Amino acid sequence: MPDPPPARRHAEAQRVMDRCARLATHTEAPGRITRRYLTPPVAAVHEDLTRWMRDAGMRVRVDAAGNLVGRLGPDHPAVPVLLTGSHIDTVPNGGRYDGVLGVLVGIAAAEALSRVDLPFALDVVAFSEEEGVRYAKPYLGSAAVAGRFDPAWLDRTDEQGVTLRDAVTRFGLDPAAIPAAAYDPQHVLGFIETHVEQGPVLEQAGRPVGVVNAIAGQSRLLLRFVGEAGHAGTSPMVPRRDAMVSAAHLIAEVQEYGRSIAGLRATVGYVQAYPNVRNVIPGMVEVSLDVRHAMDDVRDAAVAALLDHATRIASEDGVAVEVMENQPQPATEMDSGLSGLLSQAMADAGHRPFDLLSGAGHDAVAVAAAFPVAMLFVRHPGGLSHHPNERVDLADVAVAVDVLTRAVRLFAGRVRGEDTLLPTLPVDLPMPGAVPGAGVGATPA
Ligand code: GLV
Ligand code: MN
Ligand code: MN
Repeated sequence: MPDPPPARRHAEAQRVMDRCARLATHTEAPGRITRRYLTPPVAAVHEDLTRWMRDAGMRVRVDAAGNLVGRLGPDHPAVPVLLTGSHIDTVPNGGRYDGVLGVLVGIAAAEALSRVDLPFALDVVAFSEEEGVRYAKPYLGSAAVAGRFDPAWLDRTDEQGVTLRDAVTRFGLDPAAIPAAAYDPQHVLGFIETHVEQGPVLEQAGRPVGVVNAIAGQSRLLLRFVGEAGHAGTSPMVPRRDAMVSAAHLIAEVQEYGRSIAGLRATVGYVQAYPNVRNVIPGMVEVSLDVRHAMDDVRDAAVAALLDHATRIASEDGVAVEVMENQPQPATEMDSGLSGLLSQAMADAGHRPFDLLSGAGHDAVAVAAAFPVAMLFVRHPGGLSHHPNERVDLADVAVAVDVLTRAVRLFAGRVRGEDTLLPTLPVDLPMPGAVPGAGVGATPA
């Protein structure tokens, strides 16, 4: 297939941008982009994606975890599959590209490949949940695809008390069928996720896209300080056991500690006071703790140190502190073979390969538990993410569609046994390893 002319690449990228803008209108909060797991605007996103995927020649289904999947190419149970895509949920008041961009770049690549005879199916997956907002548990959709969805999660409740089980049912899906959302590892060749970088590295390096080498590990905790509630006007200032004051001390220490360790990210993003009333001393306060580092031992040590701080603060203030939840997620290595294909595709497209670390979590983390994964990052002007001012440039989106399309074609060559990797790699790059799954095309039912 000859390379498409730049005008067509431009038109493809413009359509991706227009579609991102359109999906941004499907929101729980008019004027903002807020789309939590399986809320009504998700159904509207499904409707648009279904139409666009069908226009691109794909067959579309929704699995029981709410993931929407478009398939290009052969469709029978034993067919080898290459996955691409990302998530369609957002943080409250989020940006229009986080997640959605990877789905739409995937559809654009599928469309560009629709007349190519691929030796595998290409599935574009719109994962239903990655952010962990509604059920304080990230990667619900991607965990289901990876066969790692824990049925105990169905009992989690959202802020309105709706269980995850009920949310799935109300969306018209069957929670009991979630295990069937899992792909058979025997047939999955890998997962390539495209995502906006959400940081400044590519912009500073002057690169339109880059290949992720690893995703930093993260720990998500919930701590609860328990003091004593009382009347704000009649309780003397001493003694008081104000749980909010202890939480405030910890919040300040989290930032100070985070700044003292190179590469560490430590954030309190959630505070809930009880009873949360203006004229009552807060008797109980819950705070989240989000701690990230590329090296798991540094992150583990940081979490331990911050919990020590919390214990000391609580004892100085005469309150109790307990750890309500601790969700550690180790750093995730990308698959060297798949990443090598992306680097090769970049080089073929005239862009010097470039790799970088991801500080954000991604569906690739959950998928990596079962299948080889790689990620393509798109430059993020301004680097502001989880924020309405998130941006990408049309020219960079065109590069991303081009690189992903080339990578899939290179992968097809590998599966067919053609040696597509060696000739054009720049000499100063580490050689990519063998593509895992290559040859799996022959895997029987
Ligand atoms: C997901 O966006 C994260 O918090 O990294
Ligand atoms: Mn996000
Ligand atoms: Mn994301």
